[in-house]
Amino acid sequence: MACRDNEELQRFVEEAKKVAKDGKVASYIPALAKADQTDLSVAVYHVSNTCHSAGDVDKRFTLQSISKVLALAFVLSEEGPKKVFQFVGQEPTGDPFNSMIKLETASPNKPLNPMINAGALAVTSLIRGATPQDQLNRLIGFIRELANDKSITYCKETAASEFETSMINRAMCYYMKQYHIIRGNVEEVMDVYTKQCAIMMNSLDLAKIACVFSLDGRHPETGKQILSKDVARICKTFMVTCGMYNASGEFAINIGIPAKSGVSGGIMGAAPYDFGIGIFGPALDEKGNSIAGIKLLELMSEKYEMSIF
Ligand code: DON
Repeated sequence: MACRDNEELQRFVEEAKKVAKDGKVASYIPALAKADQTDLSVAVYHVSNTCHSAGDVDKRFTLQSISKVLALAFVLSEEGPKKVFQFVGQEPTGDPFNSMIKLETASPNKPLNPMINAGALAVTSLIRGATPQDQLNRLIGFIRELANDKSITYCKETAASEFETSMINRAMCYYMKQYHIIRGNVEEVMDVYTKQCAIMMNSLDLAKIACVFSLDGRHPETGKQILSKDVARICKTFMVTCGMYNASGEFAINIGIPAKSGVSGGIMGAAPYDFGIGIFGPALDEKGNSIAGIKLLELMSEKYEMSIF
């Protein structure tokens, strides 16, 4: 059953919105606390290059952890899996996204996967560039190509708000520097990482990027192969096993597609060879995933038989 009906999507949005009141917007990054708890939008970008949507799909939000998949895709494309997996592992943690506990208990002190904060910080430190500005510009250039939108940029206010308050991430960087997982200057890694997390777009852009993953790396609009099939495959596998953090198992059972969430309330989902999904709903559940976004995906998954399992 294809998702080709804006009115049906709108009904799902109205239904899913009811649970937004049970969530909370993120406030540990002060700039995110300004979000409107009741927002919910969804865009579906089909492999045939058509789009359906509901809610305020023009509203922009910061990617936060969704940027982890995109940075991983970029670094895997440039360095290859062999090098990248010397610095970051491939296993789910079952812990919250900002937990540092496994950094010490897991051997050999490398972060368990690139979807948790520790692993993403290690990945960001691998982006090539002569300066942090250069690294960021190169990553943004890649994301512009994924979205086929040259205007994509980052939110300075949100980046600064996270940079000033992100002491746990900083602590994890210093810990990893001790073990040569991070080799560069920690403040510079934090600078690139917080700006990467603050890259802004709307749910339409996000759905289009998701569709690139649905098509094994080929762009639905331009037809260009932006990611190798292998890089797209690795990223989608991480999205299934770790994309929704310590809710990834439940998400795989109830919804069943590769997906990645962020604490801004974004969710990117890729229904293979069918469509990409971009969602924005800033009220979060206790695990840091969009509460209404997950409800909406449950409704969609049932109706459109989205599960890959
Ligand atoms: O590093 C952080 O804590 C944030 N910039 C991103 C965390 C995040 O989005 C986790 N997602 N659910």
